[in-house]
Amino acid sequence: MEETVNRGNSELITREYFDSLQVELRTIDAVKASTGVELFGASFSTPVMVTALSGLDKTCPNGMVETARGAAAAGALMWSGIGSEEELEALIGTGAKVVKIIKPYADRDLIFKKIAHAKKAGVLALGMDTDFVFGGKHHKGFAMEYPVSPKTLDDIKSFVKAAGLPFILKGILSEQDAEKALEAGAGGIVVSHHQGIIESAVPPVKILPRIAGVINKRIPIFVDCGIARGMDAFKALALGAQAVGTGKALMKGLAAEGAAGVQKVLETITEELRCAMNLTSSPDPGHIDPAVIWK
Ligand SMILES: Cc1cc2nc3c(=O)[nH]c(=O)nc-3n(C[C@H](O)[C@H](O)[C@H](O)COP(=O)(O)O)c2cc1C
Repeated sequence: MEETVNRGNSELITREYFDSLQVELRTIDAVKASTGVELFGASFSTPVMVTALSGLDKTCPNGMVETARGAAAAGALMWSGIGSEEELEALIGTGAKVVKIIKPYADRDLIFKKIAHAKKAGVLALGMDTDFVFGGKHHKGFAMEYPVSPKTLDDIKSFVKAAGLPFILKGILSEQDAEKALEAGAGGIVVSHHQGIIESAVPPVKILPRIAGVINKRIPIFVDCGIARGMDAFKALALGAQAVGTGKALMKGLAAEGAAGVQKVLETITEELRCAMNLTSSPDPGHIDPAVIWK
């Protein structure tokens, strides 16, 4: 029988693209790399972050808080997606620096309420997964019980204004949307296909150099989807990301050991990244020559 199950599987396409990129060596005069980064005025030990996650109680009791503890212990930035106000306060209570990603609810008042709460709770930055709209195979057009709807440039400008903190757009996967993010005054973007929200999605790392050209260092660029090892992080950083998010790769660690497991996975990916940086004369995450990547 013809195999159609994996046709157009965006996560597989992304994995294959990562693995199709090859890396040269630059070891003469090389120095040991530092993985430290500054993001939104805060210092982190690693550019590998916990990407916007939610609902982790199924993986581990108190899973979101355990994940935040693991991120804090690894010196990594924690992003959180949909979740209650109490949960967000508990995440920040772990000492982790947190970015809150709010759903594009159809109800604008609900968005402004979530923005006000996140600010008061003490997030480092906040934003919205603007791709989580319409519904289809991936979701039903609802975030929990609330309908979601596409946002206009003017909507986003009003969220940016209300936030008064960097407001990041997650799910940017075209040069057009990157331009609109700049025009809206976004404080950063996440290049992402949201674990295959569309079939046959262009791999984030493939479109990244073009989006980086549009952004031209004016706001930070983050990347997620399929980042599971240090070499994936290295390739994304080399091609224009300031930091990367990892999600599903953390699950095994979280399920097995809670916070300590998350910390271990983040530290392992970071050490693999450092190893790739050491061997390519890349002194820090902001100085990786894209020419070390062979396509
Ligand atoms: C359990 C789980 C919950 C998620 N919840 C959210 C969310 O609430 N908001 C959001 O923007 N993305 C959410 N995502 C998507 C991730 O932020 C990310 O874009 C996606 O998982 C791809 O990264 P990965 O391949 O490293 O997992 C979730 C992903 C997972 C696995």
